[in-house]
Amino acid sequence: MGAVILGTGSCLPEKRLSNHDLGKLVETSDEWIFSRTGISTRRISSKGEEAFQLGTTAARKAMAMANISVDEIDLIIVATMSSHMTMPSCACFVQKELGADNAFAYDVSAACSGFLFALDSGDKFLRVEQNKKILVIGTETLSSRTDWKDRNTCILFGDGAGAVVLEYKEEERGVVASNLFSDGTLWNLLYMHAAPSCNPELEQADNPGAHILMEGKEVFKYAVKSMEGAINGLLIRENIEIDSIDLMIPHQANIRILKKLVSRLGIKQEKVFINVQKYGNTSAASIPIALDEANREGRLKRGDLLLVCSFGGGFTWGASLLRW
Ligand code: UT7
Repeated sequence: MGAVILGTGSCLPEKRLSNHDLGKLVETSDEWIFSRTGISTRRISSKGEEAFQLGTTAARKAMAMANISVDEIDLIIVATMSSHMTMPSCACFVQKELGADNAFAYDVSAACSGFLFALDSGDKFLRVEQNKKILVIGTETLSSRTDWKDRNTCILFGDGAGAVVLEYKEEERGVVASNLFSDGTLWNLLYMHAAPSCNPELEQADNPGAHILMEGKEVFKYAVKSMEGAINGLLIRENIEIDSIDLMIPHQANIRILKKLVSRLGIKQEKVFINVQKYGNTSAASIPIALDEANREGRLKRGDLLLVCSFGGGFTWGASLLRW
């Protein structure tokens, strides 16, 4: 039917940064952060925990669960916006680390929706090249892209990686359908500068540092509205009732966004997987980390209907349905 997830894996940096720790960096409090976001702590990468390294470890765990060797991987797609280099791609570094000599590799850039977009690309690829196996990875070290003096943003983000192994199966399971969107006209509500876009005077580059900038309240409103629209559109298209969903794994950005979304959808709270309290917003890594935790906790049984959804800079957003 579509791309089936054979194995999941995740990797979180060792170092924890609590809300109390953040109170020493900016004027904030555990009470403010937890009540506005649901976040208690997040992980911060150290040296040796670059995005490609976290992604590689997550990928190894996913391959171990899938019981496949690295030589069997044909394609590696990495969703990230915080690789240590712009070129080569993070995916090429993962390929090198794994020694995945039979795979080609590339990155997907869709901010917090990156994993969902990469999963969709992997699914579409496998529908054409059915005898291949793919690694889809979401990995971020947003601590390197955060302004640690800006209390509006620095409390939100964390580092980590998650990965899945995909294979096409002629069975009634796998990715059922996706409903993905972008709206570049709203780019300036959530963005991060890259290197200078032009240099007509051919001046030597100075590096002002690229940090995430955000209009939090606007992002909040669009996130709820957009994910709700994407999910309802998908359910109508596939003729599926919300009560048929066994587990929902949303992008873990903020507990208040998720609670609003859940109440508007009318899905039971206990069917929604939430771990934002432990890791904060890990952008493209949040869904595959949550998916791996849910899987390892036994929250997913063969035949279950899984709903995943995301929202991020771009804006980019969407929802996908998977039969486990
Ligand atoms: O993948 C999508 C990524 N983005 C998001 O998920 C962000 C979505 N937005 C949000 O989660 C919320 O807008 C925030 C959590 C970022 C902010 O919550 P809010 O309820 O929208 O607060 P606000 O920005 O309206 O700020 C309220 C007050 C302000 O003070 P005044 O102007 O009322 O005196 C802020 O200066 O809270 C202040 N404030 C803080 N106070 C303590 C802002 N950040 C902090 C902080 N600690 N960290």
